[in-house]
Amino acid sequence: MFLQGNGLPGRWQGQPRFTVLETGFGMGINFLATWAAWRSDPARCERLHFVSIEKHPLSAQDLRCAYAATVTDESLATLAAMLADAWPPLVPGAHQLPFDAGRVTLTLAFGDAADVLPTLSLRANAFFSTALRPRRTPTCGRPRSSVRSRVSPTTARRSPPTPAPET
Ligand SMILES: C[S@@+](CC[C@H](N)C(=O)[O-])C[C@H]1O[C@@H](n2cnc3c(N)ncnc32)[C@H](O)[C@@H]1O
Repeated sequence: MFLQGNGLPGRWQGQPRFTVLETGFGMGINFLATWAAWRSDPARCERLHFVSIEKHPLSAQDLRCAYAATVTDESLATLAAMLADAWPPLVPGAHQLPFDAGRVTLTLAFGDAADVLPTLSLRANAFFSTALRPRRTPTCGRPRSSVRSRVSPTTARRSPPTPAPET
């Protein structure tokens, strides 16, 4: 939905870099779909930077559980497993995850979008604005509130995401 709405993959074709900014990473389905579309596009941009802000991040274990329950497409499942393997610790601030030899970078900012957005310094080419409400994601039987308490907006403000790499 967001790919089409943002004129992708067409708009990134032939570009040296393309940056997507998203509010609400959730279980990262938008990121996985974008990454998969980038991979399958022979005219893809040289580098893709996906920046996403999430206030209530899942644990790696809950992410894997959610993917097992919902992702049936084989190529998405492969990317989902790579993402879960690279998932950072649940500490506030920015976490950069490189994939595909650094041509794809996911910057995950754990914090409240209201606090993180004003601190960002980047030029986004596309904006994925997902509904900012907790989604009902399978969490292997544990309430998601156990994760929420680990990220505080106050500390997230101190460690904003880094700008898009100028490469
Ligand atoms: C509908 S889900 C996003 C779906 C996601 N983009 C995907 O592709 O799977 C909305 C997400 O926004 C997060 N969220 C809600 N309020 C937020 C806020 N103020 N700042 C950052 N994230 C927030 C929720 O925790 C939830 O994970």
